[in-house]
Amino acid sequence: MTPPRADGPARMRAIVCRRWGEPEGLTLEEVPPPVPGPGDILIGVRRAAVNYADTIMVRGAYQTKPDLPFSPGIEAVGEVLARGEAVAGFAPGDRVMALVWHGGFAEQVVANPVETFKLPDGMDMDSAAALLGAHVSSHVALRWQGRLEAGETLLVLGAGGGVGRAAVEIGKAMGARVIAAASADERLALARAHGADETVNYAAGDLRDAVAALTDGRGVDVCFDPVGGPLFDRALSSLAWGGRILLIGFVGGIQRIPANRLLVKHRSALGSSLRYFRNQRPDLLRRSVEALCAWYAEGRVRPGVTAVYPLAEVPAVMRALIDRRVVGRVIAAVDDGDRRAERDHGAASNVIC
Ligand SMILES: NC(=O)c1ccc[n+]([C@@H]2O[C@H](COP(=O)([O-])OP(=O)(O)OC[C@H]3O[C@@H](n4cnc5c(N)ncnc54)[C@H](OP(=O)(O)O)[C@@H]3O)[C@@H](O)[C@H]2O)c1
Repeated sequence: MTPPRADGPARMRAIVCRRWGEPEGLTLEEVPPPVPGPGDILIGVRRAAVNYADTIMVRGAYQTKPDLPFSPGIEAVGEVLARGEAVAGFAPGDRVMALVWHGGFAEQVVANPVETFKLPDGMDMDSAAALLGAHVSSHVALRWQGRLEAGETLLVLGAGGGVGRAAVEIGKAMGARVIAAASADERLALARAHGADETVNYAAGDLRDAVAALTDGRGVDVCFDPVGGPLFDRALSSLAWGGRILLIGFVGGIQRIPANRLLVKHRSALGSSLRYFRNQRPDLLRRSVEALCAWYAEGRVRPGVTAVYPLAEVPAVMRALIDRRVVGRVIAAVDDGDRRAERDHGAASNVIC
């Protein structure tokens, strides 16, 4: 790790991963803060969402593998502490949200200005933490890859989880009819509270049959799939002629795609990864963030948090995500060791950490 800034604190609190494995192997430590390079922004982190992707990263199974030791956490919300001499457009004290490669579960993190966004007036830090990674990922997938149109029907799997609930809201904001699907009634209630028109419990019955019943046998135009695994087959069968299935994640396992079933009904399977999209199309990334901030101001997306936990409890939240015990979005209050708040929809009692 890099030496501390001369004018900053010598140590900071951070969740540290020293070996690949389960979240229980993570430690809360005092470590030297990072040093921003000439093109970087240094953020004093206040809030950081806990994502399923964090659990994959600490197992060493993510798309990118940081050098050990490192702090996990792929997004951060806080205030600009310092900026490199080559950075324009940001000043110390600015309230910002940033997508980072890792390091969000620490009191300070270095961010790339291209992936850092000022919080609009009226957006509090909890909402920003709930919004950034989940809503931007879902918007990128639905807008730029799925090309969802107003009037189309959207099926969202894992609809009570982080990216799934965001996809429900974004689908509604884009003018689609949204069918939310999940395995638990609490998560379906959350999806309905965030705008879903219909719900399907895929643990209680066959997904394809339920979708067929809701679409007069036609199927859906777009399916947003962060689950994959065995559920993918039924989701593919739920597509209408010309339907698009968006491959977002594989919490249920990595499926194989039978190409013949794409051909016959002119279906498409489309991958979407925010992590790589932001390198390739930073212009469209910024347009996604701007669209979401505008919808937030209009009340068309409401990225509420289910619960806020102190930094020390990040490993327990990761365990709850792995065990499928989380409803909605859980964030860490990095700057407040004692905080334990419950929010939104009364669902926090279902978050077991
Ligand atoms: N491609 C991208 O740009 C992008 C961006 C963000 C996240 N992701 C990926 O999307 C996936 C979901 O991330 P997330 O942060 O939304 O996770 P999350 O909050 O844990 O939500 C995942 C949902 O998947 C469902 N699920 C089905 N089978 C599961 C299983 N075996 N284990 C855990 N959950 C299961 C759960 O709902 P039910 O129990 O109701 O089925 C859960 O609510 C992850 O793979 C993540 O890496 C991709």
